[in-house]
Amino acid sequence: MELAIRCPYTPAEWQQYYYLRWLILRAPLGQSLGTEQDELEDSAWHLAAFYGEEVIAIGRLQANSEAIGQIRYMAVKEKYQRQGIGHRLLTALEQIARQQGMSQMVLNARETAVPFYVTANYSLLGEGPLLFGQIKHTIMSKLLG
Ligand SMILES: CC(C)(COP(=O)(O)OP(=O)(O)OC[C@H]1O[C@@H](n2cnc3c(N)ncnc32)[C@H](O)[C@@H]1OP(=O)(O)O)[C@@H](O)C(=O)NCCC(=O)NCCS
Repeated sequence: MELAIRCPYTPAEWQQYYYLRWLILRAPLGQSLGTEQDELEDSAWHLAAFYGEEVIAIGRLQANSEAIGQIRYMAVKEKYQRQGIGHRLLTALEQIARQQGMSQMVLNARETAVPFYVTANYSLLGEGPLLFGQIKHTIMSKLLG
């Protein structure tokens, strides 16, 4: 089956999108359903990777300023990780940022995700925030050519 990368459209697709965000990024930290969303959802760009009707990977781009975009909430279903899907999603989010006139991307990477972003040519800028007092982040950045 072909992998399709696009914004979710239907209520059922949005439900899968946010559920996967919660399942991968919030449930393991003991956070309840609903904590996966923030106040920028309406103004951000959302992409999901679909196998048929199943959402298997997700990611979000927000505008920090006219020139600077930020990637947040990248997550790939466990059984589909390390198959290049996260990289395809990241590339598609970077493409949206370029289309919007952004010239730089920033993000806060979990320690376990740093190698993924290094592979995609992101540089380490320094220590980032501690999420829920337990998950260390590294600030990373890339110039969008
Ligand atoms: C991090 C994540 C989004 C990466 O997506 P993915 O689809 O698994 O990554 P890809 O298969 O596209 O990886 C591309 C390359 O990045 C590097 N990479 C990815 N994950 C890596 C890991 N855990 N350790 C080392 N290198 C890694 C590898 O070079 C990989 O290429 P290879 O598999 O041919 O060696 C995904 O693993 C995930 O959802 N993890 C849990 C949630 C998370 O940490 N999200 C990020 C929050 S900041």
